[in-house]
Amino acid sequence: MSDDLKVYNPNPAAAAAAHINGMAAYEALCKEAETDYEGFWGRLAKELITWKKPFTKVLNESEAPFFKWFEDGTLNASYNCLDRNIERGLGDKTAIIFEADGGEVTKVTYKELLAKTCQIANGLKAQGVKKGDRVVIYIAMSIDGVAAMQACARIGATHSVVFGGFSAQSLRDRIEDTGAKAIITADCQVRGGKQLPLKAIVDEALTLGGCDSIQKVLVVKRGDVAVTMKDGRDVWMADVVSGQSTECEPEWVEAEHPLFLLYTSGSTGKPKGVQHSTGGYLLHAALTTKWTFDLKQDDVFWCTADIGWVTGHTYITYGPLALGGTEIVFEGVPTYPDAGRFWKMIQDNKVSIFYTAPTAIRSLIKAAEANDAVHPKSFNLSSLRILGSVGEPINPAAWEWYHQHVGGGRCPIVDTFWQTETGGHMITPLPGATPLIPGSCTLPFPGIQAAIVDETGKDVPWGQGGILVVKRPWPSMIRTIWGDPERFKKSYYPEDFKGKYYLAGDGAIRDEKTGYFTITGRIDDVLNVSGHRMGTMEIESALVSCTELVAEAAVVGRPDDTTGEAICAFVVLKRSRPTGDEAKQIAKILRDHVGKEIGPIAKPKDIRFGDNLPKTRSGKIMRRLLRSIAKGEAITQDTSTLENPAILDQLSENN
Ligand code: PRX
Repeated sequence: MSDDLKVYNPNPAAAAAAHINGMAAYEALCKEAETDYEGFWGRLAKELITWKKPFTKVLNESEAPFFKWFEDGTLNASYNCLDRNIERGLGDKTAIIFEADGGEVTKVTYKELLAKTCQIANGLKAQGVKKGDRVVIYIAMSIDGVAAMQACARIGATHSVVFGGFSAQSLRDRIEDTGAKAIITADCQVRGGKQLPLKAIVDEALTLGGCDSIQKVLVVKRGDVAVTMKDGRDVWMADVVSGQSTECEPEWVEAEHPLFLLYTSGSTGKPKGVQHSTGGYLLHAALTTKWTFDLKQDDVFWCTADIGWVTGHTYITYGPLALGGTEIVFEGVPTYPDAGRFWKMIQDNKVSIFYTAPTAIRSLIKAAEANDAVHPKSFNLSSLRILGSVGEPINPAAWEWYHQHVGGGRCPIVDTFWQTETGGHMITPLPGATPLIPGSCTLPFPGIQAAIVDETGKDVPWGQGGILVVKRPWPSMIRTIWGDPERFKKSYYPEDFKGKYYLAGDGAIRDEKTGYFTITGRIDDVLNVSGHRMGTMEIESALVSCTELVAEAAVVGRPDDTTGEAICAFVVLKRSRPTGDEAKQIAKILRDHVGKEIGPIAKPKDIRFGDNLPKTRSGKIMRRLLRSIAKGEAITQDTSTLENPAILDQLSENN
């Protein structure tokens, strides 16, 4: 290891008990994959998944980049996550410990979760949903949410979960794109003591046009928010499942059958419907939960993500359940009733594996430093043995704090790099093997051929930054963009690399001595705000859709201490440039407008007004210049082509 780097080696006693013990074991797995790629994945697919009809073929590359894995095998994801555990004697084991926003705890065993899933599955069938149909799920964190996803999987319907923070417009866009037959929602979601309507947003989305495919809206009762139920379309979930059998024969689907669609931002305006398979996805969900988190039968696993994001899919709904684990699901926010909630929940539930996002850690550091009562030291966190981080780079200072104050200096931190499109971890430490260096996601998961190349696809030497690619297909990779195979090819297998390498969209660099990977950030027009992916064009489109006010808008990111990146918008209005209080008022109107178009997570932190935007002679917006202005940096770029250099001063003024 490099002399100047702080290295944390695995504790030998803990490593000895780990699924992957020591670097030699890690290297042996990488070697196995290198020597016989299909043999490696085929072996694991047989070990971790129960197949109804075993596959005979591991990988079909004949229609690359539309790869097929285990294509002649059949299985059911919900059978693998539920029935199989009961068959191996785990029926009375707790599957989910749910803690509501107000602190009430509900537990379900594997048997109970299966019964609930089957009742919803039978109910969905009774409502006319069948294999191949899409179901949109717009619901808060709950056992019902997980069971609804499992129920879709059980009957071969493809779920598409939409995060509860998205607006009616965003929900509408996703409903239209999926062509879903049904929506599963709730009257409300509860966050920080407040009941926020969900069904009313569904109602609004369905009036915006383009949602004719929707035949049924199933409504879970979570709180006591009044809802309007449309005759013939809207039904209470309680009525849907009432009288339904607690048994439901799984629909055995082909390995490539789409398990789910999940929308994510790209560099153009329209979110992409990332399509995942059943077999390959489930394999990687189970395998990474086993190796990266070292999950064992007596662990209590807690991934704090929302099921509206891919992390919640892989490390709540599928991975831990596929291994028969016990997991926590929580409703609400980390700062309610106070910023000690995470630490108290770890203490009360004896959580042993904890997986969260750097943004959450950074905001809890601030709170803990201001108030001992919410500092991790005020709680007994001795049950913890492994910590994880996901969604954005974790800065070394936050890493050290997490390690020392949450992990008591003894828990390895797995900094997991991956994406909605990759289905599961791609570059990550393995806790019993990999020496850790704060700020680095370390080395590729066994079997993942991650590399860093230049614009022509040539490998760059260690120590030199470049473009992160994956050279070989892997089981849980995105299969296509729903309804847009051309966009899939263009986005992920571009001609720059002769269509051969998967393009992650991130820049990366390998340490000169260790070869460890550090992600340097997106190389496209995608921002990462609090671990949420936001396309700059999506936000620009939302701003210019405020047609009575906005003539033109450009959005860039700038570093932010808490949220990683913050959204900064430069706006030219149709009227004269506002200043002072008026500028503040208009900025508020625009923020609210973006909140309504996309959702509160997309509201720009800074909005600045100019008479124009800085452009090149050919009319292209000089985004690099805008990024410097957003950061408050001195302008070093050539500005001689600007028609009106005075606009730089205007755009530097904050509102
Ligand atoms: O830029 C990378 C960043 O998040 C992007 C993927 O976002 P999304 O599809 O929403 O999935 C988030 C949860 C997997 C990546 O392209 N990212 C994710 N994890 C890390 C990361 N950046 C640095 N380090 C990570 N561990």
